Amino acid sequence: MQIIDGKAVSAAVRDRIKAEVLELKSKGKQTGLAVIIVGEDPASKVYVSNKKKGCEQVGINSFEYALPEETTTEELLTLIGELNNDDKVDGILCQLPLPKHIDEQTVINSIVPEKDVDAFHPTNTGHIMIGDYSFLPCTPAGIIEMLNFYNIEISGKECVVIGRSNIVGKPMAMLLLQNSGTVTVCHSKTADLSDVTKRADILVSAVGKANFVTAEMVKDGAVVIDVGMNRNAEGKLCGDVDFEAVKDKCSFITPVPGGVGPMTITMLLNNTLTASKNRIK
Ligand code: GUN
Repeated sequence: MQIIDGKAVSAAVRDRIKAEVLELKSKGKQTGLAVIIVGEDPASKVYVSNKKKGCEQVGINSFEYALPEETTTEELLTLIGELNNDDKVDGILCQLPLPKHIDEQTVINSIVPEKDVDAFHPTNTGHIMIGDYSFLPCTPAGIIEMLNFYNIEISGKECVVIGRSNIVGKPMAMLLLQNSGTVTVCHSKTADLSDVTKRADILVSAVGKANFVTAEMVKDGAVVIDVGMNRNAEGKLCGDVDFEAVKDKCSFITPVPGGVGPMTITMLLNNTLTASKNRIK
């Protein structure tokens, strides 16, 4: 069994991004990311702080907008409208989830597709569907990058994704399909889940429940990718996969922390660099 080291892959990709950001700077083009957070969700605060740190590391300017919980949809749309027209801003990221009274899809739709570094706008999701895109959603893109880094073949493999969210499950399935995997998407209504997961050569779990994926659900020699970010009973950060039980059964596995998480932020930085380069053109 080999542990997929998301930090090491991240470091390699970030070095390349840093060099490119610096080169743009030497030509007079600075790269900037606006990060919006609404409310006090503790997990979101950690993610946003890590995104800002990532920007700093590669020389991207970050502009944080921390708005109070009671912010209205209209106020948020006004801010995004300003950022859409701000030349210092190449990418706009609005951390999800938003407070319940704000209409999330309206907010996503208001970011111009050229600055939508999350690739959540329907225009960008449509581009991904037909395989012609500038930005890929960060988490699935980071997973493909890690698989490539470890020379893990996707073509012809049975790929099973657990979870069908717009952020991870659906775009993950699409990217695996584009890489010629045979893809099955499972979700809460799937009958006999472990019957399906046991077929997987590559198993991606994006469920959000600690110890959801047990050893019985995993085929011998499978590649296991854990997108979960959960707290266990002791309050420790953990993924969806029962790591200790599954690790000896698989060929590769991503740990939590240190697997998918760092790659997600790295791909955000990469999308911001792409947005910056596209705006020069
Ligand atoms: N919340 C959880 N994951 C993400 C992400 O990739 N982007 C944004 N904007 N919010 C998130």
